[in-house]
Amino acid sequence: MNKVTKAVIPAAGLGTRFLPVTKALPKEMLPIIDIPNIHFIVEEAVKAGIKDILIIVSSTKESIEDYFDVNYELESRLRKSGKDKEADEMRKIAEMANVMFIRQREPKGLGDAILYAKSFANGEPFAVLLGDDLIDFDEAPAIGELIDAYEKTGGTILGCKRVPQHLLKKYGVVKPKDKSDAALFEVCDMVEKPKDPSLAPSDVAVLGRYILPPEIFDVLETTAPGVGGEIQLTDAIKASMELRPCYSCIFTGTRYDIGDKFGYIKAIIDYALKREDLKDEVLAYLKEKTK
Ligand code: G1P
Repeated sequence: MNKVTKAVIPAAGLGTRFLPVTKALPKEMLPIIDIPNIHFIVEEAVKAGIKDILIIVSSTKESIEDYFDVNYELESRLRKSGKDKEADEMRKIAEMANVMFIRQREPKGLGDAILYAKSFANGEPFAVLLGDDLIDFDEAPAIGELIDAYEKTGGTILGCKRVPQHLLKKYGVVKPKDKSDAALFEVCDMVEKPKDPSLAPSDVAVLGRYILPPEIFDVLETTAPGVGGEIQLTDAIKASMELRPCYSCIFTGTRYDIGDKFGYIKAIIDYALKREDLKDEVLAYLKEKTK
């Protein structure tokens, strides 16, 4: 069995839920305090042992490339003013992974974006991490838990969590093959964004993490546009279940939907409360506000 050594991060979306800021700033660069959210996504992959990362961008996303590049001028200015620690930190970002970029030519959906990773994957299974899903983990990075599940089963792996009924319409929802409370179970069908909770086959939603097999590209090439007129990754995964079993892996970290404004605010508060330099002040402020 091939090991998972590569990750793909689709980052070509228009970010319409966060206009007007995304008119000029990629949503992946929205900061969780002082760190752009895509930094955490790349870090999650790196902590799971992945070094080669392909970010699929669109024409207005140069700042993501700049962020993962070396900025010689900034580093030299920092060093000249005695800020070696800060300069080293800037260099570490550029060296944390082998980050590559490719442009999706038209916004034709997540499935279409993934197709751009075909030659990068080069016949190997690969991880996919969606930037809207920020996952805070203490020990095991979520994508690492999915890699373990892949190594155990050899199947396609979907990173999932149980979500409240009224939120199921936002996600791909899995149908378990057999009734199960286990953290890892086989899936026999999926419904993309069920309009009504009664159309959802369970309360287990796919939350932005996948281990996909190389044959997904052949399937994607023949996948017709689905929900919203876009080429849906969910449709291709469903079709690929005939070729290889598919599993839902309930990951352990805390997930934030930072494509949603309230989800983004929650992430900022929680990350601030975990930081030694901020937590006391932020906590005191929140207490005062909620008196
Ligand atoms: C995508 C997928 C959906 C998944 C979701 C996770 O939807 O199509 O199956 O549940 O990501 O966040 P999007 O949110 O990009 O519309």
